[in-house]
Amino acid sequence: MRLKKLLLINFKNIQQADISLSDGINCFVGDNGAGKTNVLDAIYYLSMSKSALTMTDGQSVHHGEEFFVTEGSYLTDDDRAELVNCSFSRRGGKVLKRNGKEYERLADHVGCFPVVIVSPQDSELITDAAEERRRYLNSFISQIDRAYLQSMMRYNAVLAERNRFLKTSSDESMLQIYDMQLEEHATRVYEVRRRIIEQMQPLVAEYYKVLADDREQVEMTYRSELAEMPMSDLLLRSRERDIVNQFTTSGVHRDDVVFRIGGYPLRKYGSQGQQKSFLIALKLAQYRLVAEAIGEKPILLLDDLFDKLDMGRVEKLLSLISGDDFGQICITDCNKVRLEGILGRAGRDYSLFMVEGGDVKR
Ligand SMILES: Nc1ncnc2c1ncn2[C@@H]1O[C@H](COP(=O)(O)OP(=O)(O)O)[C@@H](O)[C@H]1O
Ligand SMILES: [Mg+2]
Repeated sequence: MRLKKLLLINFKNIQQADISLSDGINCFVGDNGAGKTNVLDAIYYLSMSKSALTMTDGQSVHHGEEFFVTEGSYLTDDDRAELVNCSFSRRGGKVLKRNGKEYERLADHVGCFPVVIVSPQDSELITDAAEERRRYLNSFISQIDRAYLQSMMRYNAVLAERNRFLKTSSDESMLQIYDMQLEEHATRVYEVRRRIIEQMQPLVAEYYKVLADDREQVEMTYRSELAEMPMSDLLLRSRERDIVNQFTTSGVHRDDVVFRIGGYPLRKYGSQGQQKSFLIALKLAQYRLVAEAIGEKPILLLDDLFDKLDMGRVEKLLSLISGDDFGQICITDCNKVRLEGILGRAGRDYSLFMVEGGDVKR
């Protein structure tokens, strides 16, 4: 998938932009606060119909304005033209159109225009609670498995109902009905998560080896109560506890993914550099899985990547993503000289865009 043209109106600090991108590497250079990340976020919006940062649609409208518009003209890997338009107005809400036709459900769009973002916020995957890692898994798997997204949404809906019910009642026959529904969705979610993480693990290890050049082995493993027993048994086992606590204490909403280095928790024992390399390896593995699953190379967004990475790693990364497995790339950096130096040495063609105060110029 390649984004050929990006049109923006009132998107965060970018009041108007009309950007023609190249098929290879696109670099966005500018000072802090210039709007570089916002450009990448707009591209992410077009694919996922929401911000990659934890920002609401309303917060993405330029201060004092009523609406924003993002529009992307794409070419698929087999050269079909596609037009995506995602707009939001404070009054009318969000509208997402593909080739002029409005989607009935935003979820139908997810995965059609694949994107993978590597950003400084990824470190939250290591430092934050399990919820952050589940959110990551959900959004990534949704791109490759529509049914997963449906199961997840249904699971969450039943879970919320069951929890509301537990606040006022402990009627067992009613709980049984909720439990049957939960079991169906949880089992599917569990199976998909297990399979994806199993496929991902060797890729992460492989990319990590190339990037980090150390002898430590990294691992990612899935941790779920459903590995011990089926959801129905879990719910029965915890029913009394659920009634006392007035919420559902077991299920896939408590799943986690554990990252390790040399057998120990990455969070505690990984150096900054090792953690950073791990996160990039994770995202590259994700990229490969998405590309394989949907037969379309995602757009790779690399936000502020060079900041905390030493040159050796940067160069390895560039040679990795210059290979045939990867497609169009958008990179941001605040240092033009550094970026030109790196790309010059990599010997790759690239397009350079200067970003300044919300203005984007080639
Ligand atoms: N809704 C908004 N309206 C106007 N400006 C915004 C909005 N949201 C964020 N900004 C501004 O965008 C700028 C940050 O842009 P960003 O893309 O993160 O910069 P950087 O080039 O450092 O990546 C900040 O100055 C911020 O105030
Ligand atoms: Mg930024």
